[in-house]
Amino acid sequence: MRRDIAEQFELDPGLTHLNHGAFGAVPRAVRQAQDRARARIERAPMRAFRDELPELLAAARESATRFLGLPAGSTALVRNVTEAVGVVLQGLDIGPGDDVVVSNHGYLTAGWSAEARGATLRTAVFPVDADPDAVVAAFVAALTDRTRLVVIDQITSPTALVLPVAAVAAAVAPVPVLVDAAHVPGALPGLDIEALGVDFWAGNLHKWAYTPRAAATLWVAAEHRASMRPLVTSWSHGLPYPERFDLQGTVDHSSWVAVPDGLAAWRELGGWEQVGRNAELLARGAEHVRAALGTEHPQGGTPSAPCLGLVALPDGVATTTEAAEQLWQRLYAVGFVVPPIAFEGRGYLRLAAAPYNDESDYERLAAALPAVLDTVRATVGTP
Ligand SMILES: Cc1ncc(COP(=O)(O)O)c(C=O)c1O
Repeated sequence: MRRDIAEQFELDPGLTHLNHGAFGAVPRAVRQAQDRARARIERAPMRAFRDELPELLAAARESATRFLGLPAGSTALVRNVTEAVGVVLQGLDIGPGDDVVVSNHGYLTAGWSAEARGATLRTAVFPVDADPDAVVAAFVAALTDRTRLVVIDQITSPTALVLPVAAVAAAVAPVPVLVDAAHVPGALPGLDIEALGVDFWAGNLHKWAYTPRAAATLWVAAEHRASMRPLVTSWSHGLPYPERFDLQGTVDHSSWVAVPDGLAAWRELGGWEQVGRNAELLARGAEHVRAALGTEHPQGGTPSAPCLGLVALPDGVATTTEAAEQLWQRLYAVGFVVPPIAFEGRGYLRLAAAPYNDESDYERLAAALPAVLDTVRATVGTP
């Protein structure tokens, strides 16, 4: 770990944290800002909810909107991408008789939420080393004449790929497209959300933009804004988009109040420069791990995310969800927080690089892996 940076976080120094993408990590100063927001609300809840929060939340919303390079009033605050997906499915009134397209690299909750509303899922299937044209073709092949929505992950969770969102949106038009951009804010430079040609774009701020957890954004194209409602409707009646998302009844709004503090921490940690440094660190770190495992890089023509990437595990290791879970437990038991991923019958490690990581983190993992894999093979009898 980089001690100077790690000191700004509250992570357990007894663990090697190589999974920032999962839940982020909140810098101490941001956690303290959230604590202050809570204390302020508790001093006079009536005054806070009636007189203070509307202004604080509007300011937080607009700071997130600017951070994403979007125009004022275009983007709502939600608590996470899962909630954003629910808002979109509800707003489009998706239900029985409708098809929703997801991909085999997609995060599960979009599919589950669509199925829970009675829609039928269609899956665009492509391999981890697909080139962008094959990705587009897979989405087109999954369309039916009943498709009401295509959900595409901009950075895929299990495989860390940056999918060709604009090309997919153009190819599936006029079907509306929802981008699951959970990993994107603060992690993918050069973003121009309005130029993607999509209808909805949802990104978590609590992964790579250092806000408290339960802070996310939902950008909605102008033609859909009138029909989008928060899932908690307590005080939204009569308000326009996006204000109607600001005060969602008596939920804890402190993570949103502290959004500007999280974004300030992102800038202080080095902004896009630190993303570039982390991308280089990840490339070097992944080489250490690959060398220890003796496996090939599974990369095809679709680029990998800057701070998130896969390393293939040896044949037969972590090829099922259960085996991946077992390997996760073994790695955790010897102090490594790094997720094994079973994807389409092959096992991978998904490595992340955050500002508090340094090369020694990956070197230690590389040194520990052979013995850990031996214990896993001994238990399950894999080759
Ligand atoms: C691609 C993707 N989408 C959605 C989510 C869900 O995020 P949340 O639980 O914050 O809604 C995740 C979580 O890691 C993710 O990786």
